[in-house]
Amino acid sequence: MSKIIQWVGDAETGHLRLLDQTRLPTDEFFLDCRDVQTVWDAIRRLSVRGAPAIGVAAAYACVLSVQGIEPGSDRLEQALSEAVEHLAISRPTAVNLFWALRRMSMVRPLSAARLLSEAVAIDEENKLMTRRIGEHGLALLSGMGLFDANRPVKWDKGAAVASVLTHCNAGALACDGIGTATAPIYLAQERGLKIKVYADETRPLLQGARLTVYELRKENVDVTLICDNMAAQVMREGRVDAVIVGADRIAANGDTANKIGTYGLAVLAKYHSVPFIVAAPSTTFDMTLTDGSSIPIEHRAPEEVTAIVHARLAPRFGSVYNPAFDVTPHELIRAIVTERGVVEPVNRESVRAILEPAKVR
Ligand code: MRU
Repeated sequence: MSKIIQWVGDAETGHLRLLDQTRLPTDEFFLDCRDVQTVWDAIRRLSVRGAPAIGVAAAYACVLSVQGIEPGSDRLEQALSEAVEHLAISRPTAVNLFWALRRMSMVRPLSAARLLSEAVAIDEENKLMTRRIGEHGLALLSGMGLFDANRPVKWDKGAAVASVLTHCNAGALACDGIGTATAPIYLAQERGLKIKVYADETRPLLQGARLTVYELRKENVDVTLICDNMAAQVMREGRVDAVIVGADRIAANGDTANKIGTYGLAVLAKYHSVPFIVAAPSTTFDMTLTDGSSIPIEHRAPEEVTAIVHARLAPRFGSVYNPAFDVTPHELIRAIVTERGVVEPVNRESVRAILEPAKVR
């Protein structure tokens, strides 16, 4: 996988280079960002997207905000706080953005070099956490018997030993490393345990079709694309052993916001007795929210629904409803896999035990 986010050059004169995900899978085009506004636009337009990747891009944008300002000048503080305030309104749902901005705001003494080393640290920690999620996720799937050779096979899996369904893109493109929902899949592949993946296309912006299929195929993972409305039938046919998705924000009780359509999948999974699993780093939890009802949901432009890749599908009409995310109630989630361990069962107490172990007696 090409590097999706990289800093090029030194702190004072360098810039941020992003793989423009709006142009995938046809073009691998890199966007050079030399100021905060270009990064802001890239986040808003979804050139860089996925909760952890948005946070990393915003962290590097903070470095751009102070370039060219004299060391020790009061203007450093002002430039950084203006950048942080502006970046915070690029997208509302993924809490990793606010987490990364808070961390960048605390850097002292202020300089481009110090900000760059903090942004690099966030980036590196992110990659490391994806492998930890992969380890915990793989152990969970094994514990559920997914890799048991004697398990009754409901359909012909061919070379695959297990099969999962995923939605949107919670892969390497969404956070670098080996992704979150994809992390157990990539680790299984590394260890010779083949997992077959069904990827929902994920309307309206088709992150599943364009991005998940692109990255899994690049890594030789057995992936089959389905339209979103096929998931129920695929589950009924017994083709799916588990559903694994990422998350943009998780409330203190485990209610989880993720790409629109995730909630519907969780309901389907419940009906068909398929375990529904969320994979996300601890930075995706928002412990200030008691439940998912107060997670801010982004609403996007009507054109994303009335057209696909600029080709108009629907007649011009008055009203389009386009929430980009939905919230899955914690009761529908079998487990949340984090880099710190697995939250199971999913409820306030077990979230706290993994996220804030020191506070749990
Ligand atoms: O609108 P997007 O493409 O940023 O939405 C992304 C998702 O919903 C992902 O599932 C989520 O951010 C998980 S990232 C590992």
